[in-house]
Amino acid sequence: MSGRNNCLNMKVFVVYCHPSEDSFTRHVRDAFIRGIVDAGHEYVLSDLYAMGFRTDMSEQEYLRDANYTTEPPLAADVLAEQAKVNAADAVAFIYPVFWTEAPAKLVGWFDRVWTYGFAYGERTMKTLDKALFLVTAGNKMERLVQFGLLDSMKKVMLGDRLFNRVRTSDFVVFDGMTKKLESRLENWDANLQTAYEKGRDLFADASGEVGKE
Ligand SMILES: Cc1cc2nc3c(=O)[nH]c(=O)nc-3n(C[C@H](O)[C@H](O)[C@H](O)COP(=O)(O)O)c2cc1C
Repeated sequence: MSGRNNCLNMKVFVVYCHPSEDSFTRHVRDAFIRGIVDAGHEYVLSDLYAMGFRTDMSEQEYLRDANYTTEPPLAADVLAEQAKVNAADAVAFIYPVFWTEAPAKLVGWFDRVWTYGFAYGERTMKTLDKALFLVTAGNKMERLVQFGLLDSMKKVMLGDRLFNRVRTSDFVVFDGMTKKLESRLENWDANLQTAYEKGRDLFADASGEVGKE
């Protein structure tokens, strides 16, 4: 027995960040969501570029976090994102690697949404069951490993931004996907199959724990 569908009707919050629909990453998004739906789960999608989500902190937002205070009240768009997190069992981040980071828009999403009083301090953010990262990279895995770039990306995302806010996590890199490399087309279908299975099996497979030192 695979145990694939042992948890039904779970809720997944998908945070997707890519500036173009003419991309491999958007196919990853679609395959993953197909898997979620086929397994009988629900999803909510935040497409950060399509939403025009503002990801620069205002001075007021900076001062609120920097002074460890819950005043003034948060902006409506931040509250909406926080509500999506707290309504979910799992969160999935789907994005391309830009300069060994997520695109600035997603980094800014963390800046504004991971507020004092929500993600730290007297935290109101729930502890999520799972976090999944589906990340597309232009470089081949050997290079990402050789120069410590993969470790850096995982350390920032899993070791800091998620840390003990999630029970288990999975960080999947689809490497060698730059338009310059033949591997982009060679691995296209297999990568999308993996993305689909990550959605379908999200609540079935045992993943690595994070948030423990
Ligand atoms: C501004 C920019 C910065 C990038 N930086 C990196 C990088 O640091 N490491 C890497 O492996 N790929 C990097 N890439 C390559 C993208 O990750 C690659 O284009 C993407 O994964 C391919 O998928 P797409 O068709 O969805 O864009 C960068 C691409 C752009 C446009």
